[in-house]
Amino acid sequence: MTSSVLLSARNLSVRFGGVLAVNNVSFDVERGEVFTLIGPNGAGKTTVFNLISRIYNATAGTLDFDGQRLTHVAPHDVAGLGIARTFQNIELFEHATVLQNLLIGRHIRRRAGIWSELLFTRTVREGERETRRKVEEVIDLLSLQHYRDTLVAGLPYGVRKVVELARALATQPKLLLLDEPSSGLNAEETGDMAFWIKDIQRDLHVTILMVEHDMGLVSRVSDRVLAMNQGEVLALGAPAVVQSDPAVIEAYLGSVDDVESLRRGPAA
Ligand SMILES: Nc1ncnc2c1ncn2[C@@H]1O[C@H](COP(=O)(O)OP(=O)(O)OP(=O)(O)O)[C@@H](O)[C@H]1O
Ligand SMILES: [Mg+2]
Repeated sequence: MTSSVLLSARNLSVRFGGVLAVNNVSFDVERGEVFTLIGPNGAGKTTVFNLISRIYNATAGTLDFDGQRLTHVAPHDVAGLGIARTFQNIELFEHATVLQNLLIGRHIRRRAGIWSELLFTRTVREGERETRRKVEEVIDLLSLQHYRDTLVAGLPYGVRKVVELARALATQPKLLLLDEPSSGLNAEETGDMAFWIKDIQRDLHVTILMVEHDMGLVSRVSDRVLAMNQGEVLALGAPAVVQSDPAVIEAYLGSVDDVESLRRGPAA
């Protein structure tokens, strides 16, 4: 039987020298949900993503993805398992077109061996067609038709954020990790991003694990929220409940802007 849990973190810790960046963190991400990590700067949110991507090794604890122990998987095999991510600072091939970026992203799903690639066998040709079809589907879904053949370097920041999302989606992930999808976006672009995230969840049934500071976006798209501070879990539950938790508000007190955005909540 398939478990309803897609990703499970148990007692996860990672230490960098004297800093316990993640300290005994446990949570489950259910299939099909949007699960969001919030917390002030340096709370350990991106580090959790880097543990899932296997960029870092956990000092202690375990991660299981889709019934498999992730803490033993090599970093280059993570994408093949069905985990894709976007980065806090956009990471794209700047001097390639939007289409090329999506094709490169998609390449990791291809299973053909080197001999079939060289001989351009039927399987390879069919794989190529399937890749094109999938990439065009993502371009349509995220309304990127207009930019298909434009070099990424020449695109406005807001469009590049959507291209990065498209690149991750083109790999047909089971789990999509979004690190601050609204950072650097204006209010209108953030609104669009909320729609894309809901569309991806609803139409493609992709499970989403997100890190986000904009509490308006968090409230609009998240099914559940986990708040962290200094590497530890502060609260876990529905967005409104976590955002009004006194411990969460206190953790944000260091940054007036962040507290204001918490108070604004869903109306923002
Ligand atoms: N490779 C590393 N080496 C040393 N310390 C690190 C490393 N990566 C992260 N840290 C430290 O771990 C802590 C958590 O950092 P992390 O980037 O996970 O925070 P964050 O919650 O994503 O913050 P932000 O909201 O600013 O992006 C910080 O104290 C950071 O300096
Ligand atoms: Mg971060």
